[in-house]
Formats: sequence, C-alpha cells, structure tokens
Amino acid sequence: MNARSQKKHLVAANWKMNGSRTGSADLLQSLVDKLGTGRAEVDLVICPPSILIPLSEQSLRDSALALGAQNLYPEPSGAFTGEISPPMLTEYSVKYVIVGHSERRRTFGETNELVAVKFKAAQEHSMIPILCVGETLEERESGSTRDVVGAQLGTVLAGSGIHAFAAAVVAYEPVWAIGTGKTASAEQAQEVHSFIRSTLAEQDPNIASKLRIIYGGSVKSANAEQLFAQADIDGGLIGGASLDAEEFTKICESLP
Ligand code: PGA
Repeated sequence: MNARSQKKHLVAANWKMNGSRTGSADLLQSLVDKLGTGRAEVDLVICPPSILIPLSEQSLRDSALALGAQNLYPEPSGAFTGEISPPMLTEYSVKYVIVGHSERRRTFGETNELVAVKFKAAQEHSMIPILCVGETLEERESGSTRDVVGAQLGTVLAGSGIHAFAAAVVAYEPVWAIGTGKTASAEQAQEVHSFIRSTLAEQDPNIASKLRIIYGGSVKSANAEQLFAQADIDGGLIGGASLDAEEFTKICESLP
C-alpha cells in the first residue's frame, strides 16, 4: 500500500496489436506463474488485443491478474462495423479499459470529445477507464504541455464530472516517450503528474489524492524504480516491456 495516500499502485500491460494465439497463451501462462498470486499493494491488469480477450479471460480466471481492454466503442450495439461495445467486453469479465491512448488519438483521429464519451460509456458499464493524456514533442518544446494535458482532462471533467475520477485511473503518457526508448525523466514525469493531481484537487482534493495516476512511455525494469519512487506516480502503463513476462514481473517488483 502506498503510505503517502493509502492507495494501491496499479501496473497495466498494454500489449497493443501484438501476439499470436499460441504465443499469447504462453505469455499468459508465464504471467500467471510469476504474478498470479498477486501482491497486496498493487493491482495488476493485462490489456490484450480484443480478439485475445476470450483466451485471456480463461487463462487469468483464477489469478489475481485483472483483464483490461485497449479500446471500446461507446454504444451498446448496432451498425458500427469493426467496433466492440461495452457489454461485449463485460461479458468477458473485462474490468478496465484504456481510453484515449495517443495511438488512438493520432492514428485513428480520436478527439478529446470522443475520448470523453468513451470514458463515460466505460463507467456506465461498470468498467474502470484508464484515461491516457499526454503531449507531443512539439507541444512540449513549445511550452504547451499543461495546456494540452489540461484540455484532455478538462473535456472528461466536463462530460463526467469530478466524481467520476473516484472510479478511474489516469495515465500520463508523453507521446514522445512511447515506444521510442526515450523515457521522461522521473522529474519531468513527476511534474506533470503533480499538475494533473492539483488540477483535479481544485475540484475535489479528496478524490484527487486517492486517484491513481500512472506513467507510461518506455518504462522498463531499468528505469521503473526511479519513476515509481516519485510522490505522484502510482504505477505504470507498460507497452513493449509487457510482452516479456520476466521484464514485466521485474517492473511490477520495482514498486516501492
Ligand atoms: P511503451 O508503450 O512502454 O512501449 O513505450 C506504453 C504505452 O503506449 O502504453
């Protein structure tokens, strides 16, 4: 348990569009072997590609590892070719769902408004959204990190209200650090995490202090400990390094 704020840390694996059926079964088995009994002070979440959710549900069923999705469409059913609805996810025991990942925002044109609607839909279906926010390199260099992250948060606040953050996770993922091998320094990350917490604290200090704000962007076992030691970093969203059970386990073990 994080003594600073009496909240559990959270580490989530974002497999992105990686993994075959057999390779994923092996990876899930290794994760269950290494982490399946869980740790009292951390919530562990695996977010496989949607097509691997049924397989993952079976593999993780009796373990302490929770299942997450990487995306959802904010309608219960209908003519939305290629999309996956909240009830389809919850039928497979999906507990968490990533919304607003920068790859969705940039490659698939998701706007702050759509992300806010997805956030709301996740909660309406009793899933915990992991809301990703973060700036591009250009935005950082032009000094607009706070404006960008503030607007990303602000649209969700406007749509769902501050109380929604009592059942959500925020992931700060600077776009320039994702999959690039360039991690934000612990100080750079802490600065933005603290900004996120204080922005939400203006509306409700209690909710803000209990909110899990996790960091993502080239986290690996070599840098996890330093990042997780920061006052406002409550865990991680792990991409590339989560595809290796041993490395992911080491990251989870780096929590204070
Ligand atoms: P990365 O991805 O760890 O491969 O940088 C993190 C993420 O995009 O969630």
